[in-house]
Amino acid sequence: MTQDELKIEVAKAALKYVIPETIIGVGTGSTANFFIDQLATIKDSILGVVASSIATSNRLEGHGINLFDLNEVEEISVYIDGADESDQQLNLIKGGGGALTREKIVAAVSKQFVCIADESKLVKVMGNFPLPVEVIPMSSSYVKRQIIKSIGGVPVLREDFITDNGNLILDIHDLNIEEPQILENKLNNIVGVVTNGLFANRGADILLLGSESGVKTLVSN
Ligand code: A5P
Repeated sequence: MTQDELKIEVAKAALKYVIPETIIGVGTGSTANFFIDQLATIKDSILGVVASSIATSNRLEGHGINLFDLNEVEEISVYIDGADESDQQLNLIKGGGGALTREKIVAAVSKQFVCIADESKLVKVMGNFPLPVEVIPMSSSYVKRQIIKSIGGVPVLREDFITDNGNLILDIHDLNIEEPQILENKLNNIVGVVTNGLFANRGADILLLGSESGVKTLVSN
């Protein structure tokens, strides 16, 4: 199977986590896009969706799926999104597509987080995928220096990229993330950082992994 075929299988498997008559959250990226296409087939069973990015809103709208602004919503039953890396404890790196901040907000409001990915995303220790950090534009050089001084790794400004929130992204290369929660908190404490792509304080509850032998289900402890 191709990587896209694995993503489609996992997107289909995620449909069973959609709770009828509720508002759900939907993430961003190629796997989330496949999920949106599947969701379109059952769109009348849900009240609607809170989107984690402008791109996702546009795709949902294209399918005629009802959209909600997060400020109108008190509870999201389930958040379904991809990831760039996951460890065995279902801590994640997200933000390869730059939507990390809105993704983290929607995940925080959601009762359950179901992550969907092909099996190449599951790793022993995260950090091979560069960790995205969203920063306020005027702080990018300062944050870069602070990362080099107090965190480690090699922060690189993402070229020609502005987030949906009007900010910049630093991608930190060469990390070996043994303690994801501690690193998530440390990065968030640097002035100028909006958020970072580690989802450890609120990791996934369930990870659906597309593999050659079918969709595997991992559950967080
Ligand atoms: C978007 O900002 C990201 O968090 C994506 O969810 C993540 O990069 C996974 O994307 P793919 O499904 O395209 O691999």
